[in-house]
This record gives sequence, C-alpha cells and structure tokens, in this order.
Amino acid sequence: MRLTYTSDVWWKNAVVYCLDVETFKDGNGDGVGDFRGLTQQIDYLAGLGVTCLWLMPFFPTPNKDDGYDITDFYSIDPRLGTLGDFVEFMRTAHDRGLRVIADLVVNHTSDRHPWFVEARSGRDSPRRDWYVWSDVPEPDDPGQIVFPDKETSVWEYDEGSGQYYLHSFYRHQPDLNVGNPEVRDEITRILGFWMELGLSGFRVDAVPFLIENVNPKLADPHEFLADLRAFMTRRKGGSILLGEVNVPYKELISYFGDGLGDQITMCFDFIGMQQAWLSLARGEAAPLVKALRERPEPPKDCQWAMFLRNHDELTLDKLTEDERQEVFRAFGPERDMQIFGRGLRRRLPTMFGGDLRRVKMAYSLLFSLPGTPVIFYGEEIGMGENLAEEGRMAVRVPMQWSADGGFSHSAEPVREIPEGSFAPERVNVADQKRDNDSLLRWFQLLIERYRECPELAWGEYTVLEAGHPAVFAHRCDADGATVVAVHNLGDTALEVTLRLAGLARHRLTDLLVDGTLEVSDEGEVRLPLDPHGCRWLRASPPEIAPEDASVKSH
Ligand code: NOJ
Repeated sequence: MRLTYTSDVWWKNAVVYCLDVETFKDGNGDGVGDFRGLTQQIDYLAGLGVTCLWLMPFFPTPNKDDGYDITDFYSIDPRLGTLGDFVEFMRTAHDRGLRVIADLVVNHTSDRHPWFVEARSGRDSPRRDWYVWSDVPEPDDPGQIVFPDKETSVWEYDEGSGQYYLHSFYRHQPDLNVGNPEVRDEITRILGFWMELGLSGFRVDAVPFLIENVNPKLADPHEFLADLRAFMTRRKGGSILLGEVNVPYKELISYFGDGLGDQITMCFDFIGMQQAWLSLARGEAAPLVKALRERPEPPKDCQWAMFLRNHDELTLDKLTEDERQEVFRAFGPERDMQIFGRGLRRRLPTMFGGDLRRVKMAYSLLFSLPGTPVIFYGEEIGMGENLAEEGRMAVRVPMQWSADGGFSHSAEPVREIPEGSFAPERVNVADQKRDNDSLLRWFQLLIERYRECPELAWGEYTVLEAGHPAVFAHRCDADGATVVAVHNLGDTALEVTLRLAGLARHRLTDLLVDGTLEVSDEGEVRLPLDPHGCRWLRASPPEIAPEDASVKSH
C-alpha cells in the first residue's frame, strides 16, 4: 500500500457521517433543520474528524416516508433551504476538507411526482412505461413485503387506468422502471446534475429492488450499475456509490462487480452488523468471528461499509428466529421497541442501558473492524431514541447540541426531543466537549487513530484465537506494519494470551490508553482486559522505538 493511495482511493478508510438536514440544525428558527443550520455546524463535523458526509434525502417531498418519497430530483425541499443554500454548504464543506455524498432514491418516486401523475393519466401516456404495470396483481410472497405493518401487497390498483402498479415499498412509492432506457438516462442525468454541484457520490437506496423489479427484465441487471459507475468516473474520477444491499454474502459480492469492482464501490455489511449484535447480546465473539471468516474479499479498490446503527430499524432479518429473539430479549424486550417483527427502533446506548463502558467498547469494535465506518448523527454523543415518535422516526430525533436542546430556537422542533436519561440536559455536544471522558472525546480519539492506522481498512486481516469466548481479537497487516485490536465483549475482567506470528520480541504500544507490552521470544503476549475493555496495539520491532503511527510509505 502506498500512503498516497489513501487519498486516491479515499473511501477505503473514510469516516462517513450520515445526517438528515431536517433534524440536524435549524438555522432560521422555524423548527425544521436546514442547510444554513448545517453549514454553521461544519466546523463541528470537521473537528470530530469525519471525512465524508452522507446527506439523507433533501429533495421536495410530501414527506410520507421522511423524504424517501421524492417529487423532484433536481431541487431542494423548500423547508430545508434553496439551491443557493446548498451550494454555500457544499463550498464550506469542501473548504474544511469534507466530501459529501447524498441519498440516491431512484427505485421509486412519490406517487405525486409529475412523472407518475402523467404515467397514470392513461394507458397510452408517454410516461406509462416509466413505471411497472400489470393487469393482474402477481401473487405476493409475504417475505418480500418490506413494510408488513402497512402493506399486504406490492401491487396497488390504479382506478383511473385500470391496472396495478408495482411498489416494492409503501403504496405511495411506485417503482420506477429501469427496464426502460429513458428512465436509465434520466437517472444518469440526476447523478450528473448533483455531481456538477460537487457531490462525490451517492448512497444508493434499495439497490437489488432497483435493478430486479423491472419490465422487461434486464438481460444483465448489473450492467446498469456498471454503466452508472463508468459515467461517474468519466465525469469525476474517485466518485463513489455506497450501496444498500441487504442480501447474503454469496449474492452480495456480485454487486461490487465480479472481480472487476466496477459497480457499487462500497456495500454495507448487513450480515456482519447483525452477527455483531448477536455477539454483543451473548457477550461472545463467535458469531462475529464466523461472519468475518465467511465474508468475501471485495474486489481491489472496493470496500465494506461497517455500521452498528443507521436511520432505519436495526434489522435482524438475516438471523434465525431464535437468534432474533435472543437479540430482542437482550436489547429490546418490549413490543414497542420492536418493529416489522424483525428489527429494533432503538439507538445503541439505550440498548446498553446507558452503560458507557459498553458503549465505548462497541464503537471501538466498529472502528477497528476491517472496512469503512459509517456513523449516524448523534451516535458520537450517545443520543437515545424517542419511542413516542412513529415507527422508524423514533431514532431520527433532533440533534442535541446543548442542555436546552440547541437544535432550534422555535418552540416546536420538527420531531419531539427525548425525555429522561437521554434528554438534552443529560446528553449534548456542549457538555461533552468540556469532558475528556465523554463519548464525544472517545469518538474523536477513535477516528484519529482509525485514520492513523490505514492497516485497519487497507490491510489483510486475521481473526486471532483469543482462547476466551468473550474476547474478539484480530490483527491487520499492511506493508510490514501491524495493528492488533482486542475487545472484551463480557463484563468481567480477564487476561488472554495471543500468539502473534512474526512479531516475536516486538513491542505493542496501546493507541487508546497508555501502556506498552512486550511480545515474548515465542511470539506470545499476555493481555489483561477490563470488563468491556478494548485495546488497539501497534507493533514495533525491538530495534525501532515505538511510534504511535508508523505505517511505512514506499
Ligand atoms: C431504504 C431507506 O433506508 C428507508 O428509510 C426507506 O424507507 C426505504 N429504503 C424506501 O426508500
């Protein structure tokens, strides 16, 4: 690895921060977050150390799915600001060295999008074929219904034109038909438009639905993804697609573009995420170890995007029923905390009962896992959810800037602020900035160390035998430099012995807290761990003084 590559292939060890403009910061006092507010907070984000912002949808919308139902792909939701505000925001973000990507939601539109209004106006409408129609609703597979609390079918009858239209998600979100070349061209234009305004890429919503549920079926559905990537690369080298592809590893690997890596640049590791939660529930490393051992290697220059929580429910759909129930029992036993029978509408710290040691360990694990970490706004200060909000909105609460909330000067913020132990008086940015033991400071340290240890994202990883079921240990090697990370998922102090091949007599410098350890002549090290303890250790050869960040540059 050459260190210069880490700028060319910047996404491989980026730190991605997902936020919703609507709930981040209100700049004009109307209770709704906006681009002006967000722009004021860019120095905060740069100071946190994140390198890439992912903006949730900010386009005009009737807001029946929090903006994932779009009526115009080429402008800004007027509640959030103007195109002018957007450009000012982009300029400021770039000035502070931050890249920006945005949600690309083109599997469907809102049913109020002018394209759909036109398409449904009659069977001979020139836009008819932009959506997917059928004379009879094809039989539904209940397993395919994404929102089983609201929908029983993916087909909806359209009175006016007497046919059924496909909607993989809510009935107000008709699926666009990428089987039609005009639709594919239009999607490409959307990418081009926002790239011209400075975006470095897109988080692609619902990728498998986008390429599969079309009419006629595409001879090679993946060709469309490759075409999009090629277009982006022609326009601006180094622009990326970050894909929401929640399918088993075997299928998933094809979304990167078999061998070539010319389709989705980074895919979220939904399987690893779910197995990590099972591990956290059991206090046992085994499920996570298994996932990492089974996980395929992405093609060169592609990457896994790692996360523990996001803006949706914590989906547990790839666990067995028994495993899912185990996670429910540990982290969301009450019905109201569960959703769709398969997930939890909670943020991480509440699931851990506010146990800061455990929260810190979980994020240390996230940042050390091989891949690019993606965090959801407010995770860095340990915000909780508000179960009083509807469905998945429970976790999309306003950002907590100060003891009085600080999100808006308006009496009525767009969404209700949590009360109790996770209310802004207890959990906010301003207080945590003044507290060196805070979660915010911990995040800053993790991000700094993650960026200084490109081995973690770029290197070859090996899961180590830790000899204790509660301990997850792995090492990442790149160009003769090594980082070892060890996590105690259990709540008792313990000591493990690690065998570190090729590191006999090396010194291990702890990158998170003080201390060094010596690897024995036989290549073994005894390592004490606190309850929920975590350690990142950089190995240095005996003849070289330990350095905190010593990856070699060739
Ligand atoms: C996935 C998004 O993450 C989710 O929030 C949304 O409801 C669906 N796609 C539909 O766009």
